[in-house]
Amino acid sequence: MLKKTLEDVLSEKESEELFSAFDQVGDIIIIRIPDALLSKKEIIGKKLLEQVKTAKSVFYQASSVEGDFRTRDLEILAGENKTETEYKEFGCRFIVDVEKAFFSPRLSTERDRIADLVQEGETVINMFGGVGMFSIIAAKRKKCTVYNIDINPIAAKLCEKNIELNKLAGKVISIHGDATKIVEEKLQDKGDRVLMLLPERSDEFLDSAILAAKNDGIIHYYSHIHADDKSKASKLSEKHYSEITPVKSNILDSKIVRAVGPRYYQTVIDVRITK
Ligand SMILES: C[S@@+](CC[C@H](N)C(=O)[O-])C[C@H]1O[C@@H](n2cnc3c(N)ncnc32)[C@H](O)[C@@H]1O
Repeated sequence: MLKKTLEDVLSEKESEELFSAFDQVGDIIIIRIPDALLSKKEIIGKKLLEQVKTAKSVFYQASSVEGDFRTRDLEILAGENKTETEYKEFGCRFIVDVEKAFFSPRLSTERDRIADLVQEGETVINMFGGVGMFSIIAAKRKKCTVYNIDINPIAAKLCEKNIELNKLAGKVISIHGDATKIVEEKLQDKGDRVLMLLPERSDEFLDSAILAAKNDGIIHYYSHIHADDKSKASKLSEKHYSEITPVKSNILDSKIVRAVGPRYYQTVIDVRITK
């Protein structure tokens, strides 16, 4: 349907490329546009806005996800120039800001998986929690306490709003700050489960994750792995983890979360540690 809208503007091949890089979050559409199509970006934005009745804005993603806050630059192509919107997932409501705090609709399967794994009564430490996506979905599904830490003040504020929206006060606790410091100050040996969704820097923060976990606690260790053969990606990340971990570890599971580039994968390892 969308491809049809653009058929007078783009060739078949061009629209294939465009739609592999298309996300809708609430009433906001975000597209990445290949360099060869940049001269057509305004018309693409206008046509998309006309066609997608649930959208109020179309943005072009003008940078990759970058910096400590893992955010991206967006450029308005059509519609309202606002980056905050409401997004719904697994019966939870979220206010997200698609430019000022990290958010990805593409992690929804992983959020579902983690919420299923959480056990009743657990304490979960989400070291890089963003606006609270993983934390809130888990706490809505299971009776647990989740500490959602983030260094980006806007993410931490949005997380507070999302806790209120989902009536989870006291069950999810938003903490603004550096995960290493917060763990040292108040969360040592508290986590039945520790999430470390900052895949580019997992090795740097592994000691803090271990400090945060209880003896016999579980760490979800995310990483980015290059693999020529996709079927080997999760085994490669297990191997990497086993080489660098300073603690006795029992790997419970590992898998690809999503592709993040050509022959490049985000993976997760679920590991039970003995301290
Ligand atoms: C890839 S995002 C994941 C966010 C969230 N888990 C989600 O899936 O929506 C990583 C987050 O880590 C935060 N961050 C980066 N360095 C940090 C640090 N040292 N301590 C705490 N949070 C940090 C960033 O601001 C960003 O929101």
